[in-house]
Amino acid sequence: MCGIIGYTGGKQAAKILLNGLKRLEYRGYDSSGVAVIDNNRIDVIKSIGKISALEDKTDGGKKLNGFVGIGHTRWATHGAPSDINSHPHLSTDGNFAVVHNGIIENFAELKAELTAKGIRFASETDSEVIAQLLQYVYDGDMVEALRNVTSRLVGSYAVGIITSHCPDTLYAVRKDNPLVVGIGANENFIASDFAAALEHTHNFVQLGDGEIAKLTSHSATFFTADGEPVEKTPFRVDWDISQAEKDGYDHFMLKEINEQPKALTATVRPRVKGKDIVLDRINFDAKNTNRIERITIIGCGSAYHAGIVGKSFIEKYCRISVTCELASEYIYSDPITDNRTLTIVISQSGETADSLAALRLAKKCGSHTIAIVNVMQSAIAREAHDVLYTHAGPEIAVATTKGYTTQVSALYLIGLKIAKIKHTISDARYETLLSEIITLPDKVSEILADITPIREYAERFADRKCVFFIGRGTDYAASLEGALKLKEISYIHAEAYAAGELKHGTISLIEQGTVTLALTTQSALYNKMLNNIKAVQSRGGTVLAISSQANKQISEQSDGMLCIPDCDDDVTPVLTAVILQIFAYCVAAKRGCDIDKPRNLAKSVTVE
Ligand code: F6R
Repeated sequence: MCGIIGYTGGKQAAKILLNGLKRLEYRGYDSSGVAVIDNNRIDVIKSIGKISALEDKTDGGKKLNGFVGIGHTRWATHGAPSDINSHPHLSTDGNFAVVHNGIIENFAELKAELTAKGIRFASETDSEVIAQLLQYVYDGDMVEALRNVTSRLVGSYAVGIITSHCPDTLYAVRKDNPLVVGIGANENFIASDFAAALEHTHNFVQLGDGEIAKLTSHSATFFTADGEPVEKTPFRVDWDISQAEKDGYDHFMLKEINEQPKALTATVRPRVKGKDIVLDRINFDAKNTNRIERITIIGCGSAYHAGIVGKSFIEKYCRISVTCELASEYIYSDPITDNRTLTIVISQSGETADSLAALRLAKKCGSHTIAIVNVMQSAIAREAHDVLYTHAGPEIAVATTKGYTTQVSALYLIGLKIAKIKHTISDARYETLLSEIITLPDKVSEILADITPIREYAERFADRKCVFFIGRGTDYAASLEGALKLKEISYIHAEAYAAGELKHGTISLIEQGTVTLALTTQSALYNKMLNNIKAVQSRGGTVLAISSQANKQISEQSDGMLCIPDCDDDVTPVLTAVILQIFAYCVAAKRGCDIDKPRNLAKSVTVE
């Protein structure tokens, strides 16, 4: 997904922009570029390929003088990756340069209109229309010009703009696409995420939909879509810049896997006060809670999988019916949702377009909404009625790890809280589960202390074409995430099946050497799993069991076994997830894959 950085201050802009772009590399990109105002003229340098190519072209930034500029990493949507299609885009007269994330849906009409007026377009992109429109409407007042332009745009956008008409000023505007303003000392920034500006400032302002930012080195002023000045109070982002660096690990993914004990602690510990769970400002009083007749959990990808784990836990202990919905499906359904439905939207980034649209639909239907989000002040966090931050720290690798496990633990907290209020759980069981959740970080550390056995199995199976994951109950939910992790980073085809479903079709795919990872952490379902394992083996399949301590005897029945530390059956998905993340990581490493930036994937999917 594209990335934006912008700077205005007393330092040479190009170097800061190049550095910021490197921080955004993890989002995935195919080309990049920078534009800087020098002596009232905009200089642009762009390059297809890695940022190192842009560094070479700009001589590490030295070729571009000037103190105000914008930079961009592009992930091609409209027009192939090329120097011309890369951002920043210049207006024909060279007086406006823009970088844009998102999609301008009506760009073809706008382009036709401007072309008819004699404006010549250089690129095939939708984004260039913004620069050309600015040139066309500008009449001496940039804020007015931006209002005019954005009123004509249909779609989603985060845009950074510089203009030779106001050479000290950096402008930005956004709608349905993330953009933050970093407030520094005698310098200000715009960025598509905190990581790009974090080494310069920890104070940020979130730009609201339709709002315009006007930034100089010494001032930051904001306007509503109607052009009215609006006050914005900066908030502090406590993330440490070292969290956005690899810190000696080969990949961000491995680093983030290892950060899970800390991340889980940050999600859970501040919310446990003695025997009570206090979920920030969420008002779970008896009246509100007893009104809840159903719960809908919504997310995409791993966030959806976290929801499926949460469903079995919440249904078991709260005795409330829970449905899990894929955000992209929910938004085109006619959901049965009203003011007795609690909707929980899960999103690590807080910016996923489908999840945001689903949240808006649920609110429109009258549902109370809670967001489980990692990135502070992101769109989903701001728009939900309540928010529970996971506090996992920045997640840079495209494949989520700590994002997912912290979402699961947040759902456990919500489930326990509701169950306690509704008296659908005994005090003893509540206390046992709470203490289990609190000790999960230590158990994750136990797994991380020696990953050799996981790596050995991973390397043994790294050449396979297809891997199955099976489990029952909450193990099935965990299998879904295990299969997704493997396929997205190693490109091995992986399928998760409810173990009892195999015999209804999929078992025909099992043949000599097919690898099946069988999750066997649910004691009550152990014998049933045993039957499923035997069925796989009798067709020549190889079974690696991921077991709990209680079910260790599975090793006699399987071809290999990895064991999670001793824990309650109801919270095993956090631990099996860690094993499956490491398994996927080691398979991908053995296959030489680009682990942090898997092909075709972006970290934050801000388009539908
Ligand atoms: C998989 C992965 C994705 C995300 C999904 C939702 O490793 O990271 O499946 O879980 O794109 O993203 P968020 O949680 O940011 O809404």
